Amino acid sequence: MAVGIFDSGLGGLTVYEAVAKRLPDVPFVYYGDNAHAPYGVRDADDIFNLTCAGVERLWAEGCDLVILACNTASAAALKRMQETWVPKDKRVLGVFVPLIEALTERQWGDNSPPREVAVKHVALFATPATVSSRAFQRELAFRAIGVDVEAQPCGGVVDAIEAGDEMLAEALVRSHVEALKRRMPHPEAAILGCTHYPLLEKTFAEALGSGVKVYSQANLVAESLADYLARRPEFRGTGKTPKFLTTGDPKKVSDKATQFLRHRIEFEAA
Ligand code: DGL
Repeated sequence: MAVGIFDSGLGGLTVYEAVAKRLPDVPFVYYGDNAHAPYGVRDADDIFNLTCAGVERLWAEGCDLVILACNTASAAALKRMQETWVPKDKRVLGVFVPLIEALTERQWGDNSPPREVAVKHVALFATPATVSSRAFQRELAFRAIGVDVEAQPCGGVVDAIEAGDEMLAEALVRSHVEALKRRMPHPEAAILGCTHYPLLEKTFAEALGSGVKVYSQANLVAESLADYLARRPEFRGTGKTPKFLTTGDPKKVSDKATQFLRHRIEFEAA
């Protein structure tokens, strides 16, 4: 049994950490497309083609179930993949839905009509491609009414993280939060809608100020994956060996991953 985790680069490691902790017996194979990050400034066709290539590589590792630990790929490519490309004996799941279910206080599979929820003013921080896809607002509208979402495309943040420049990443986060607060001065909740951003969760929380509940995906996705595997054990693939694959330079990517996660991670060439 093995499960694949895909991201454009290092961000999906935040999801990897949570799922590996929640499911210690499952070998995870991680694929970071660092050579092509960031995805957030690419067009939908490009994101679709790169994501399909990464997912195929994970299938070749015996991972019949792949989690797109990337909001940009989940927003810009997942629907098309599921409708036109994924064969019946494989599954590709995204990271959006568990987050929106948490925000709208829903259990998995609750498809009842949209209803009023506690939060009314939500700040969404995500990549330019995720923001322009409006996938978050679309998924939210299926489940909740009367929620005002203000989205901030956080240009440059993923690039800074991928380059290992924490100071620049933090400065950019502060300026994106300020820009959002000019349009929505008092959000009740903030969504970190990019799996790179939990690496800067403290900076987001400080800039937003107390009283804003910050939602990030890692633990929500881990719970939802545990639940999925219990319900659909046939998608535990045949792979046995956990590994970290990258399309980038394995040495450089390993060093940056280690810097951000603060424990050693060894990547190999994809
Ligand atoms: N971690 C991806 C996401 O969640 C990164 C996007 C990018 O490569 O720009 O959106």
